[in-house]
Amino acid sequence: MSVPTVKLNNGTSMPILGFGQGTSLYNSECTAHTLAALKTGYTYLDMAQMYGNSQHVGAAIKQWGGKREDIYRLTKFGKDSEHDKPSDPRGALLAELKALGVEYVDTFLIHSPLMTGTTPLSETWKAMESLVEEGLTKSIGVSNFREEDLLKLKQTWKIAPVVNQIEFHPYVFHADNMRRMTTLCHDEGILIQSYGPLTPIVRASGGPIDPVIKKIAEEKKATEAQVLLRWATDYTGGIVVTTSRDETRRKEQLEALSRVEKLTDGQVEEIAEAGKGKFYRHFMKNVWDNAKP
Ligand SMILES: NC(=O)c1ccc[n+]([C@@H]2O[C@H](COP(=O)([O-])OP(=O)(O)OC[C@H]3O[C@@H](n4cnc5c(N)ncnc54)[C@H](OP(=O)(O)O)[C@@H]3O)[C@@H](O)[C@H]2O)c1
Repeated sequence: MSVPTVKLNNGTSMPILGFGQGTSLYNSECTAHTLAALKTGYTYLDMAQMYGNSQHVGAAIKQWGGKREDIYRLTKFGKDSEHDKPSDPRGALLAELKALGVEYVDTFLIHSPLMTGTTPLSETWKAMESLVEEGLTKSIGVSNFREEDLLKLKQTWKIAPVVNQIEFHPYVFHADNMRRMTTLCHDEGILIQSYGPLTPIVRASGGPIDPVIKKIAEEKKATEAQVLLRWATDYTGGIVVTTSRDETRRKEQLEALSRVEKLTDGQVEEIAEAGKGKFYRHFMKNVWDNAKP
């Protein structure tokens, strides 16, 4: 099973499915799960300074033993407790590199526009750009950025973010501020990286898409989780990040992006239309509570 890749706006490529080290594995000794995920065929590991487990991910990669370029490493800068401290992306990245035992990562993100302390976003982004020049990361991007945050960055960026990693599923994409953000990303060539893609069945079940995804899953001989993972990539043309502590589910997730065929345009629209019947956001409410409506 091999996961396809997608081209980013700087010419590099990223696998379209990532194995997340947050949520299920947050702050945990995740070595065994990560090693199992690598053996199953995952090629992209999604990490963060805030998850506090990069050294365990590094240990898993070491045990797995493949080539450096076979595993895509993405990590993020920012901690919840840093609100009032000056931001230091370089220090954070150096610590992540040490934990992972590598000289560079593939992509480094700002975790949230509210996690850069008192430093203006434009200055933090400048520091991120210098990390590319230094060779400590191949690409830089953002996470949980609203339209207004991206517009601030755009005033001075020399390098545009490659991705905006954001909660994205049928119950959240249709909010006005989400639509403005995705339109801007599309116009600037910034790919959407969907996290929380399974939210409609894992955290907000009993909503209007339930019968629709059940029907499409039967049509495609796939599971409902696979239909949701496909929807996130097929709707955005981007990347999806999921996770599991369960081997059967990890296989199911990989197959969704490597074996299950793309949804038809009609199926993508049918799910989107049904999703408009409910709004549910699970993550980063502090960012969105203060967003333009
Ligand atoms: N940038 C950010 O601010 C941010 C925020 C949130 C997440 N993320 C990233 O995205 C990754 C994935 O996020 P997520 O956990 O929200 O993804 P998700 O795909 O929406 O949910 C994964 C969760 O669903 C469960 N699950 C998986 N397959 C399932 C199935 N077939 N049926 C029922 N439950 C299933 C898993 O539990 P089991 O372990 O029990 O299978 C896991 O806890 C995180 O680990 C992190 O790397 C980033």
